[in-house]
Amino acid sequence: MPEHATSQVSRTETGVWTPRIVGFLCYWCSYTGADAAGTARMKYPANVDIIRVMCSGRVDPELITTAFSRGADGVLVCGCHIGDCHYINGNHKTMARMPLIRKVIEGMGIEPDRFRHEWVSAAEGEKFKEVVTDMTAKVTALGPLNWPQLMYDRGVGHGHDLKPWGE
Ligand code: FES
Repeated sequence: MPEHATSQVSRTETGVWTPRIVGFLCYWCSYTGADAAGTARMKYPANVDIIRVMCSGRVDPELITTAFSRGADGVLVCGCHIGDCHYINGNHKTMARMPLIRKVIEGMGIEPDRFRHEWVSAAEGEKFKEVVTDMTAKVTALGPLNWPQLMYDRGVGHGHDLKPWGE
């Protein structure tokens, strides 16, 4: 097996694979909701690497595909509920984009359960906990994505060139 085939599979120090999920959370609602879950000491899997964005409307498709290509096993996008966006209609863009992004990544051979979009308000720490718990279970069941291997198997040249997360 080529060296790159296993280079992006995330493992703990004990050698047990756990999924790596990248979560893009809007600052005004969802990030605060995640914070509320932490403040309330709710227990949920620590598999989500949170990236705070000012608005879910800022999450363009390239950010999502880049996360997958750099080692994410799943990507989560959370924003304010419709009507609550602090930039008035930023999440209307999110609402239009996310179904399209889902179609694109499915076309790339990425299982639908690896991508999730949710509205999470600042008061919905419990919902954030449930979303993360459910998504982690589903991505764990799917196993590692290992995008470079996927691309390599399909004859896409860049599979060799993609670097593991953080390099
Ligand atoms: S500020 Fe939260 S979705 Fe726009």
